[in-house]
Amino acid sequence: MTQRITVIGTGYLGTTHAVCMAELGFEVVGLDVDADKIASLNEGRVPFYEPDLEPLLRKHVEDGRLRLTTSYAEAAEFGDVHFICVGTPQRKGEFAADVSYVEDVIEGLAPHLRRACLIVGKSTVPVGTAAVLADRVAELAPVGSEAELSWNPEFLREGFAVEDTLKPDRLVIGVASERAEATLREVYAEQIAAGTPFLVTNFATAELAKVAANAFLATKISFINAMAELCEHAGGDVTMLADAIGYDDRIGRKFLNSGIGFGGGCLPKDIRAFMARAGELGADQALTFLREVDAINIRRRTRTVDLARECCGGTFVGKRVAVLGAAFKPNSDDVRDSPALNVAGLIQLQGAQVRVYDPKAMENASRYFPTLDYADSIVDACAGADVVLHLTEWREFRDTDPAKLGDVVAQRYIVDGRNALDMARWEAAGWTYRGLGRAVTP
Ligand code: UDX
Repeated sequence: MTQRITVIGTGYLGTTHAVCMAELGFEVVGLDVDADKIASLNEGRVPFYEPDLEPLLRKHVEDGRLRLTTSYAEAAEFGDVHFICVGTPQRKGEFAADVSYVEDVIEGLAPHLRRACLIVGKSTVPVGTAAVLADRVAELAPVGSEAELSWNPEFLREGFAVEDTLKPDRLVIGVASERAEATLREVYAEQIAAGTPFLVTNFATAELAKVAANAFLATKISFINAMAELCEHAGGDVTMLADAIGYDDRIGRKFLNSGIGFGGGCLPKDIRAFMARAGELGADQALTFLREVDAINIRRRTRTVDLARECCGGTFVGKRVAVLGAAFKPNSDDVRDSPALNVAGLIQLQGAQVRVYDPKAMENASRYFPTLDYADSIVDACAGADVVLHLTEWREFRDTDPAKLGDVVAQRYIVDGRNALDMARWEAAGWTYRGLGRAVTP
């Protein structure tokens, strides 16, 4: 039986999920309360940058497999399976996550349900949320509608969203009944047949799987960045150190790239929300190490500012600083908690004239950080600069010819905040190269 699917929330996660479900052959309705977003998607435009997504959206809007709406009544009538894909941002002034958008979905959808269906949460939520929402569904859904809740966290990475959704490395579902499990086995039949591990568990384990994974990834990055601090004091090279430990299969080289640290809409907020939830559960000691993970991460940003200031002769006043990169990582236009823009802002506050360039994130950067100065190209950003900061490792930056760029700057100082440039090539072109956690060349 082909399931009819709705996807509620058409942000990053929801748009990708809706498009990929259509690609897998389902009839899909995407719902968002933001009429502008729905209008844009209906015209085949994805309101953010994600490789491969827009052509697939167009394809399925045109072939009618994906429709978009703002009406909960329409979604409720249509769907056998309703995926919740709304955001759970960090609450203002607190570490805890704001789950009000998820709650709003239940309040909006459940009263309209008239037949058997499964509601599947994909949003990242504090452990315990699904159980509360399941009770609320039971309260709100009309008698006889047989609506049920389950949880199925999403592990996709920005920049690889389509690939990660179509070919996930695992599927985790938290269910309260065999019927819910059977429904999700049908939805994911293609992936299960392809050998994707399918883990069936309870609500709490499913909710925890997501935040535990992100906490581990954040810890891995901060671990190598702590080693970078040590390298700076001891004269080591953290990139070589990462290789040296990463060849051990038990450690692995992935997520050991040292630099200005992690940002984005997930890792920073998720580790904070995880700590807050652990406190509420009376288990705060279990996660106090995440405070250190967070602190190490932020220290890398101030270290980058210090390195840049050194290159400017000890003060930023009257100096020009070029910042290459605004997105929190390459192949994304997302600037949420971007380490690059944070560093740019800190340097500007200390009196430098800062010019930022990014291949894809200029629009978002200038919208959310309007006080920074933006350039149209690498050369434009670097013209007359006393120091160039490489803060997001786009291919365009790695491919830049340091000899040519050397002609437009005031001084040839490069701070490689991602340890991704070819140090020998930049030095051969007459630049003084400074990496994070790398021995200073004499
Ligand atoms: C992350 C998780 O990887 C994903 O599974 C989850 O669903 C959402 O959160 P994402 O935020 O898209 O995905 O980015 P990711 O590729 O994990 O990078 C996060 C941050 O860590 C970026 O700022 C990146 O630059 C940084 N990073 C990553 C490092 O500093 N070093 C590394 O070795 C890897």
